[in-house]
Amino acid sequence: MATLRQSYIAGVGHYVPSRVVKNAELEPLLNTSDAWIQERTGIQERRWFEEGKDTTANMGANAARKALEMAGVAANDVQLIVFATLSPDYFFPGSGVLLQRELGINNNAPALDVRNQCSGFIYALSVADQFVRTGMYDTVLVVGSEIHSSGLDKSPNGRGVSVIFGDGAGAVVLRPSTEEGQGILSTHLHSQGEHAEELIVKEPSSNREERLQYILDNPQDLFPIMNGQNVFKHAVVRFPQVIKEALDQNGFQPTDIDMLIPHQANLRITQYVQQKMGLSDDKVFSNIQRYGNTTAASVPIALSEAVQEGKIKRGDLVCLAAFGSGFTWASALIKW
Ligand SMILES: CC(C)(COP(=O)(O)OP(=O)(O)OC[C@H]1O[C@@H](n2cnc3c(N)ncnc32)[C@H](O)[C@@H]1OP(=O)(O)O)[C@@H](O)C(=O)NCCC(=O)NCCS
Repeated sequence: MATLRQSYIAGVGHYVPSRVVKNAELEPLLNTSDAWIQERTGIQERRWFEEGKDTTANMGANAARKALEMAGVAANDVQLIVFATLSPDYFFPGSGVLLQRELGINNNAPALDVRNQCSGFIYALSVADQFVRTGMYDTVLVVGSEIHSSGLDKSPNGRGVSVIFGDGAGAVVLRPSTEEGQGILSTHLHSQGEHAEELIVKEPSSNREERLQYILDNPQDLFPIMNGQNVFKHAVVRFPQVIKEALDQNGFQPTDIDMLIPHQANLRITQYVQQKMGLSDDKVFSNIQRYGNTTAASVPIALSEAVQEGKIKRGDLVCLAAFGSGFTWASALIKW
């Protein structure tokens, strides 16, 4: 078989809404405390969108503009959009076409939506990578964007979940590598559907004869529910596994990692993974303290900040990893 070319991340960018919601603001709503949230999750504050200003698609577009600028690519040169979100603007169509319109991309490029929750961005990156590897496209825009805050139970009933999630967006531009060995070395995707209901938003479901009436009778089913302890238990196994899988495939050891960008699920999970992999503090990136868990947006926001802060240099070995609802989990190993 002929050797396939590799893709590399030519540009990365992020956008977060301007409204900062500190833990203290949640205390009276959720019957929670700043101390409880920080101790269990590490989160100090998160961003909530502003209705009429931020949408899932236009936050993604704001992140994409920065990624395109860094890559030196015009919006109309994008040949494929891959958009990951669990909080789309509409039930249908997906947010990819809305982002295309927002960016003024008028070249009829396909827009593909990916629904894999916290693993969504790495799934989307993997899809994009395959298209570049095969030579079908040269310029692919990959976006993760989420608005959680409008869908959370902001009463004490929701406190186990609502403290965790935040809003934001991140994006990357993939292009074919020009240097041998540079770029995405491999991606690894997994899922285990038997745990589908462990972290879920049940409604609106198509499986109701009278969808609207069901929701009116059961409005609480519009909120996310989570078996937090079980999610935690699986996450601390799957993260190290899928990171190791990526390292093994490429002949690396954990100590070869220059920067691990884990999905920002919970600081305790990240610390457990760090310890399990034997990585020092400077090799693991965390910004969950400021943004909470932004599901499909969390990895590209973290990657974008790490690059902005100069924590990732040319030639570094960067590992992206995620775990979440589905269950799904994934990793990507990148020679930057
Ligand atoms: C969500 C999570 C922080 C909850 O922590 P936990 O230790 O499992 O907490 P539990 O749900 O067992 O609840 C323990 C107690 O805290 C209470 N509690 C739950 N949420 C609370 C909150 N926000 N504030 C205060 N108390 C809270 C519970 O009511 C319970 O009280 P009780 O002992 O009187 O019944 C933790 O399970 C977790 O991080 N799970 C992984 C979540 C995750 O990463 N999800 C995203 C995956 S992509």
